Amino acid sequence: MAKTVLVTGGAGYIGSHACKALSRAGYVPVTFDNLVTGWREAVQFGPFEFGDLRDSERVVQVIAHHKPVAVLHFAALSDVGESTRSPATYWDNNVIGTLRLLEAMVVAQVPHLVFSSTCAIYGDQDGVILTETSRQSPASAYAASKRAAEDMIRTFAAMPNVTLNHILFRYFNVAGADPEAQIGEYHIPETHLIPLTLDVASGRRDKLTIFGQDYPTPDGTCVRDYIHVDDVIAAHLMGLDYLIQGGASEVFNLGTSHGFSVCDVIKAVERVVEAEIRVEHGARRPGDCAALISGSTKVADILGWRPSQSTLDTMISSAWAWHLGPRYTAQ
Ligand code: UFG
Repeated sequence: MAKTVLVTGGAGYIGSHACKALSRAGYVPVTFDNLVTGWREAVQFGPFEFGDLRDSERVVQVIAHHKPVAVLHFAALSDVGESTRSPATYWDNNVIGTLRLLEAMVVAQVPHLVFSSTCAIYGDQDGVILTETSRQSPASAYAASKRAAEDMIRTFAAMPNVTLNHILFRYFNVAGADPEAQIGEYHIPETHLIPLTLDVASGRRDKLTIFGQDYPTPDGTCVRDYIHVDDVIAAHLMGLDYLIQGGASEVFNLGTSHGFSVCDVIKAVERVVEAEIRVEHGARRPGDCAALISGSTKVADILGWRPSQSTLDTMISSAWAWHLGPRYTAQ
């Protein structure tokens, strides 16, 4: 019988790509999502369970019903800027949600967890290339909430008589879409650089505001390490397999070790979609770090994972193909 995996946030951007890949790999992905930022139409690859992770009873019930062998925990609010304006919302949703999930997993003895964490927990490091052991200095409530969730997972896993083998993936900037354009990235409001730039390219938006041009980077705009969503998900499947085979708990950065500035991304979009992007220069966005680039080979060494689709051109062209199709409508 096919193994079931609970995917929290399976109606969201990264979670829906995980469900597609899990179903292709022979698992049954059960999406658990409150549809606050996710989309019902993105749930196409397995059962859907509506619910909020902070509702313990509902989480316990869904786990008891589906008996997953593992949980992939994507569900979270993830807008850095919003988290600086509304920290309580982030602590409540991301930390309490994770707490209730862990309690339910322990009760039901679900032994494997793959958690979506973020490179934002490292914060600004003055040009340092980031590895899993780099100093941590979260610059936003979003980043701090993810670090707290990581800590919580470790302390649950250390309880006597509990098996909670886990992988914490610290993503750099996830971009791109399913090559078949069945699912993709769509947020309301949109805050991410690549979809916003594509909105300008397609005429859905007038112009793009570049947040800050006085950062200590080569062109003064922020530098990020962009990684294709399908590369991120490939790592999750390898991580899941590793845990099921008895692998020990680990934390991994998921990045490419290459940084691109906001201006680099805009130029790449102009080249790939053959459109001119109108820009204006704005102030720095609170909570942003100057540069976030992974320098780790740990995930390659232990899981054998290497990004294969994370060129800027592939990320932009796959996001563009999705962008040109119909959008989700039902939240
Ligand atoms: N940017 C602009 N203008 C915009 C939007 C973004 O200049 O209209 C800039 C941002 O200031 C930043 C870069 O583009 O320098 C990338 O911004 P995104 O909002 O696309 O991504 P973030 O780096 O803020 O955050 C994303 C995810 C987080 C994750 C983080 C890791 O949203 O969940 O990557 O770096 F933690």
